[in-house]
Amino acid sequence: MSENNPDIPRRIAIIMDGNGRWATERGKDRISGHREGEKAITDTVRASVELELEALALYAFSTENWKRPQAEVDFLMSFNEELLDLRVDEWHERGVMIRFLGRREGIPKRLMDKMDEAMELTGKNTGLKLNVAYNYGGRPELVDAAKAVARKVAAGELDPDAIDEDTISRHLYAPDVPEYDLMIRTAGDVRVSNFMLWEIAYAELVFTPVLWPDFRRQHLMEAIEEFNRRTRKFGALI
Ligand code: IPE
Ligand code: IPE
Ligand code: MG
Repeated sequence: MSENNPDIPRRIAIIMDGNGRWATERGKDRISGHREGEKAITDTVRASVELELEALALYAFSTENWKRPQAEVDFLMSFNEELLDLRVDEWHERGVMIRFLGRREGIPKRLMDKMDEAMELTGKNTGLKLNVAYNYGGRPELVDAAKAVARKVAAGELDPDAIDEDTISRHLYAPDVPEYDLMIRTAGDVRVSNFMLWEIAYAELVFTPVLWPDFRRQHLMEAIEEFNRRTRKFGALI
């Protein structure tokens, strides 16, 4: 729960889905749906800062999204650059620490440089941790964690029998945020699409039909209200 408000989950992860459907419904091309999604991102980050969340994870590009038409992939890469140009200063002023979680391979150098700059600029901020999942997959993340742990074992730095859940958590992309309280998916599909597989083990899942470009603070608050109606038991009897 957030430090100052017991009714707010501290860590929220969002699968931002439905940009294409938003555009198709309006007879527009899919790309205009992605563009429109920027408003939802800006509003959600502002709300998350004001709610004093510890962490907000946004699923922006999955390891599976490379399967889309090249023109859409290219757009998503250049749009991420645009978005950083537009918002990084504001987020920095608001104390947001931006971090990109995912593999670096395949990301155009210009975008990667911009992502690195944003991480460098905001790295010491102590406000909201904004974890942007980019070229991210939950399974690749666990594979990368396994490799890092195996390297330590091979180097004689780690006893295999000492490996426990904490060891895995400490080797995730954001080791300081090894779990989320609430995961929201927009646009009505009821699946996790390879997002935060380890980190949502005990999250409450909220699925809303609202398409991502229409998602605003009020929808975030509705998801939080739904979260508060749930009884979290963690396997115990409560
Ligand atoms: C989410 O919207 C954005 C990304 C996956 C990059 P979609 O593009 O998946 O929108 P739909 O699911 O086709 O409506
Ligand atoms: C998940 O949405 C990935 C992101 C939101 C970045 P997708 O639209 O790619 O997921 P599927 O294809 O419906 O599972
Ligand atoms: Mg989709």
